[in-house]
Order: sequence, then structure tokens, then C-alpha cells
Amino acid sequence: MTAASPKKSGPKSGHFVRLSALDDPALLELVLHAKELKASNYRKPVAKGKMMGLIFLNPSLRTRTSFEAALYHIGAGASVIQPGAGTWTFETREGVVMDGDRTEHLKEAVKVISRYVDLIGVRAFAEMKNLDDDLEDRLMQDIVEYATVPVINMESAREHPCQALADGLTLWEQFAGNLHERKFVLSWAPHPRPLPMAVPNSALEVAARLGMQVTLACPPEMTLDDRVLSYVRSKAAQHNRELHIEHDQKTAFENADVIYAKSWAGPLRYHHPEAEETLRKETYKNWTVGSRQMSHTRNARFMHCLPVRRNVVVTDEVLDGPTALHIGQAENRLHAQKALLMRLWGLR
Ligand code: CP
Repeated sequence: MTAASPKKSGPKSGHFVRLSALDDPALLELVLHAKELKASNYRKPVAKGKMMGLIFLNPSLRTRTSFEAALYHIGAGASVIQPGAGTWTFETREGVVMDGDRTEHLKEAVKVISRYVDLIGVRAFAEMKNLDDDLEDRLMQDIVEYATVPVINMESAREHPCQALADGLTLWEQFAGNLHERKFVLSWAPHPRPLPMAVPNSALEVAARLGMQVTLACPPEMTLDDRVLSYVRSKAAQHNRELHIEHDQKTAFENADVIYAKSWAGPLRYHHPEAEETLRKETYKNWTVGSRQMSHTRNARFMHCLPVRRNVVVTDEVLDGPTALHIGQAENRLHAQKALLMRLWGLR
């Protein structure tokens, strides 16, 4: 490593890469601020002259549009960077000979973008090749090191903290802040594609940190990584709660107040992809959330981060029914991120 190494160049604080960047009081304060911003339909140019660069290494509808809208509402600008779609393709690996089709290294790209903007958002999904790299958020950590302005995680291998903020606001609104006696169930779902674990990791964390009774419902082979579960357990314990893991979906759903459905491929994918594929597509097809499953709950609200595969993850009947929150949950991305931007820019 040279003296000019990027490992020494990035800002040391001000990032929002992990939800844990906010302690519990700060998390709650941000949720309540987002609620206020939503109620007032807040639009004031308090961030006039500020600029955010949004790097999408993977596609997005909600994250991109809600950030662009939030920035516009507070008077800031946005530059969307999509490598390979109007922007040069990025190499992300360290030390490679770049004689292939990737034009520029993230090292240069992130350092240059940092010279133009005040904040960088990054979406970089799990590569799903090495579980340790993904759980350590290796790529996001590299980007944080290259950046010379603060970085927001717009979904990484390990976490989707912006989704968690919106989910926290959605839960708070539904139960008027009385979350302690409410049962939150994160339910695994089948899917044609192997999806990463960022959203389920973050959904469990935010529910536990808001003091809910949290249950992870999944087939045994789809249990999330124990490093994340240990962390969620420790957070639940701070609220005198336990994380329950239940492999029988019906039992998990009993007395639930919230069902949050999500598919993920799980740690098994990294070592036994073919076995994981069969389990996800065939063996556990009956984990689709439908009216029959919802009937075991305490008239639970249904949540999903979107995009969702209808009649694979959840049935039409549930999504089009009165207990579905997914559209309002997506709207809350706007309000939560507006509150986040204002916090990071010291605008309140
Ligand atoms: N939930 C979410 O992050 O949606 P997008 O992938 O569309 O941004």
C-alpha cells in the first residue's frame, strides 16, 4: 500500500452504511422526524446548493425515485450514475489487470464523484460468491474508503438501512408507537431467483430495535447467518425481548400483528447452490403467503419492500386486500430518506 493509499483518504464519520450508525434514540428521533415531514408534506429549499451522487451498481425503482424526490423537495440536486447505462462500466476488484470490458476502476470513479458532490449513495448488492465478503460488506467498505464525502448505503450485501428506516416509520404509524406488545414475523418466501439477505437482515434489526416481539419464520435450510442473528438477539435483549426462530410457518403466524414477507437464498446458496435452488423453487413452494396463512394471525398487516413477485411470494388476494401496507411502506422511503438527508447535512 502506498502513502497515497485510499485506505487513508476517506472521511472517518458521517456515513450511513449501517443502521447501527444511529443508536436507538437517534433511530427513533429520525422516524419521528420523518413522520412530521410526511404530515407537513415538507418542501423547503433548506439544502439549496447541495448535491448527491447516486451510484447504482444494480437496478432500482423506489430507492432511485424516492431519493431524487427527497433531494428535490429540500432544494438539493441529484446525479444518477448507472455504470454501463450511460456511464463507463466499473471494475470493483482490487489489483486486477483491466484488459477486459470494464473501463474504469471504482477507485478513480468514487474519488472523482466525491469532488462533484456532497454525499454519495451506493447500491451494491451481494455478489453471492463469498459469504464472509458479503457479510463484511467488502465492496461497500471499499467504496467508503475511496470516498472523500459521506456515503449512504442504498442496499449493500449485508443491509438495506434506508428500507429499514421506512419500515420503522411504517410500523410506528400502524400502531401509534405502541410496538412493544406487537408480534413482528419475517417470513421467508419462495422465488425463482436467489435473492440476497440485506432486506431480511435489516427488517429483523429495525423491528427488534423498536422493541417488537420478533420471529423469524423460515425453512431450516434458509435460516439467516448466525452473525446477523446474534446481533439481532442482542438488540432484542436490550428491549427485554427474544428473537424467536420458527420453522413451522403456521406456528410462526399465530397471533402475529405484522407479516413481512421476503425471499432470500440464505447461506446455503454459497456452498450448495443446486440444493438451495431446489428448496427455494420446489420443496418450499407452499411458503407463499396467502389468505390461509394470514388467517392464523391476529388480523396482521402485510409488509413487503418491493419489488414483489405476485402469486410466488404473496398472493393477489393478500396484496390487493385491506391489510396490505406495501404501497405506503414504499411511500415512506421518501419521508425517511428526507429525514436522513436533513440529519446528515445538519439541517435540523
Ligand atoms: N425496496 C427497494 O429498495 O426497491 P428498489 O429496489 O426498487 O429500489
